[in-house]
Amino acid sequence: MRFSGKIRGNKSRIGWVLLWGTIFMLSGVALVAMTNKAVVWSSSDAFCGTFCHSMTWASDGYHQGPHFINASGVRASCGECHIPYDSSHATASEYVQMLLFKLDRGTKDFWYETRKTIATKEEWEKRRPQLRVEYESYLQAHNYITCRGCHSLEAFGGPRSQMKVRIHKDVKANNVDCLQCHQDIGHVYEQPTAKVDGWYTEEQAAEGEKLYQVQCETCHGEKLEGGVGPSLSGATWHQLFGGAKLLTVWGVIKGPMAQNAGTTYTTQQSLDIVSYLLQQNGLPPGSRPLADTQELSDVLPAK
Ligand code: HEC
Ligand code: HEC
Ligand code: HEC
Ligand code: HEC
Repeated sequence: MRFSGKIRGNKSRIGWVLLWGTIFMLSGVALVAMTNKAVVWSSSDAFCGTFCHSMTWASDGYHQGPHFINASGVRASCGECHIPYDSSHATASEYVQMLLFKLDRGTKDFWYETRKTIATKEEWEKRRPQLRVEYESYLQAHNYITCRGCHSLEAFGGPRSQMKVRIHKDVKANNVDCLQCHQDIGHVYEQPTAKVDGWYTEEQAAEGEKLYQVQCETCHGEKLEGGVGPSLSGATWHQLFGGAKLLTVWGVIKGPMAQNAGTTYTTQQSLDIVSYLLQQNGLPPGSRPLADTQELSDVLPAK
């Protein structure tokens, strides 16, 4: 009797401990989940793009960009690009830093929003350059932490993956700016207009030809017919670059081919070489030189 009573006493104590333990654990989980929910919600597109009226135009631009709709159907949210560690697996201390960042940013944004600093498109256009500089310098200072949270620069596969790995190796070593090459990656405010005025100038192509003769001809042939390297005209050209962005051609030349030629090119020189290749492949010259602006996102004709 006494014996079983003791057992019963122990049992009920164990029961209480279990009960309270479970309650504590579940409320802990609920609290973390709620915090996380709030954290996720406050970086979501709905929150950043719609809740804040001042972000209407940034949101429109994001909807035009490649991180909203793309081939793999994976979407990057506002926070994943704009808030440190939101795109990566944050450690506990990073998570705390993220919360502090959000608190700081959130308070400021709330202040601006309630004071209606940006209420019209005109006000947005006026503020945009400064906001852009602020964010770009943040990214530079933090070595593009949010981009790198999703993009591993060693993990490219598919066509031209070797070139991508190679060109990004420099990026890794030199801490180079992603936006220098990938313009309008977050937001596209103006759709690129169809080429009405040609792709490059005659002078650029002539400069490019000089460089080609000295540094590329040995491997790609006097008339671009190929040699050690592939032909760079006609059917091979279309096979390599038809439907690709100018950025792709430029990247090949500025990166691995400059290396093959045992040199480095300034942006100007590499664009001159691109111009020469475009000229040789029948794309028309115009009055404006090819520049490293959003023109590099222009798509080459497939045929
Ligand atoms: C893929 C990453 C990415 C995503 C997603 C993204 N942005 Fe950006 N955002 C950028 C980059 C890069 C810039 C700087 C240059 C530019 O404008 O493209 C920028 C710039 C901005 C600016 C400064 C003004 C400007 O446009 O230059 C604001 C404000 C902004 N983003 C808000 C948002 C909001 C709100 C969302 C969600 C609706 C969002 N961003 C989604 C990458 C991103
Ligand atoms: C949440 C994850 C995520 C973040 C953060 C992110 N990206 Fe992306 N990025 C993607 C996905 C997904 C794609 C689309 C892949 C596809 O097309 O299949 C993509 C596509 C790209 C492309 C190719 C699209 C094109 O049109 O050229 C570039 C370049 C790129 N990202 C650069 C960046 C840069 C720079 C940043 C930081 C400002 C960034 N990404 C932030 C996930 C992300
Ligand atoms: C030492 C020989 C060599 C030199 C010099 C050289 N290339 Fe190449 N090039 C190659 C080889 C080999 C390939 C094919 C393999 C590859 O993509 O790396 C190639 C590929 C290319 C491609 C196609 C790349 C792709 O991803 O499909 C282009 C465009 C190109 N070269 C342009 C140039 C230009 C312009 C120059 C001068 C600045 C140059 N190359 C100098 C050997 C060379
Ligand atoms: C020196 C120029 C340069 C810099 C700097 C650079 N990239 Fe790139 N990136 C390229 C080129 C060129 C390609 C190939 C484009 C193509 O093939 O259409 C590329 C391709 C990519 C792609 C794949 C696009 C696709 O659809 O294949 C992603 C993602 C990307 N870069 C992310 C980044 C990120 C993130 C950074 C910064 C950490 C960065 N890049 C910095 C030149 C650069």
